[in-house]
Amino acid sequence: MNPEADAARPRHLLDLAAWSPTQVAALFDTSDVMAQVMTRTIKKVPALQGFTVGTLFFENSTRTRLSFERAARAQSADVISFAAGASSLSKGESLKDTLKTIDAMQADLYVVRHPAAGAPHQLTAWTDAAIVNAGDGRRAHPTQALLDAYTFKTRFPGFTSFEGIKLAIVGDVAHSRVARSNAELWTKLGAQVTLCGPRTLLPDELGERPGVALTHRLTEAVEGAHAVMALRLQHERMAGPLLPSLAEYRARYQVTRDALALAHPDALVLHPGPMNRDVEIEGALADGPRSVVEAQVANGVPVRMAVLYTLLVGGKGRDR
Ligand code: CP
Repeated sequence: MNPEADAARPRHLLDLAAWSPTQVAALFDTSDVMAQVMTRTIKKVPALQGFTVGTLFFENSTRTRLSFERAARAQSADVISFAAGASSLSKGESLKDTLKTIDAMQADLYVVRHPAAGAPHQLTAWTDAAIVNAGDGRRAHPTQALLDAYTFKTRFPGFTSFEGIKLAIVGDVAHSRVARSNAELWTKLGAQVTLCGPRTLLPDELGERPGVALTHRLTEAVEGAHAVMALRLQHERMAGPLLPSLAEYRARYQVTRDALALAHPDALVLHPGPMNRDVEIEGALADGPRSVVEAQVANGVPVRMAVLYTLLVGGKGRDR
């Protein structure tokens, strides 16, 4: 046993509030090691052999779920998967009983996505397993922010610091856990974040975090930015119509090649997916040389490998 390493090892990843810049840097270092594993012919290491990871998705997902499962299997962990649509939730089983049922099958860590903010926190009271938040309502999506920042950092050889870096996040900020987690992470690392969207999709309180600015003008957000992230309109979280006209929204807020011309000459274009081409992002920009959308997906695997490894093993070794 190594009590010091164990004390430093975070128990869960519910959001990024409790993660220090030093812990994030250590996670990125581990991600570098995992990224190297993913370049090998045999993309598998025994690091998590004997552990079981459960993926509990109460909301749809393509990228997050598949990359967590890939990340677990690439480290030789076993995976059990729960998808709400194919479960006994429809027969009236509660969230607690659902977790207790799956927990009886002895997983060590659960990756949880849920439409209700705070659901992953609630699950920590009902299981001894580690919990990773894979997106809870509009509140947090910490691994998306980690892979976004990691993608930015790794595109610039010799990159040392986020100090002075400007990130613009454009679109439906109000309903976006990705915007909230990225604003939290990038400012924690020293960057400035500008959130941009129409008044109905840009809550004032998000501008209260130090290092975060709000604007309703796309040109102001993008000017001089080193990274521009487009967000889709989350119609599924809107109680009613929040935009008078989709055509007007596209004209004012679509991230286009013309808009990117105002950014830093080396600016990168990010999108967490799923994309609605030619709505929040110009299709040609998404496919262009400044776009790192595919790299974000690829980096999701090593970053999530690092998250699983850090929570399950960390500096402690395998003496559990
Ligand atoms: N970015 C993201 O969370 O994508 P999925 O909904 O496909 O997991």
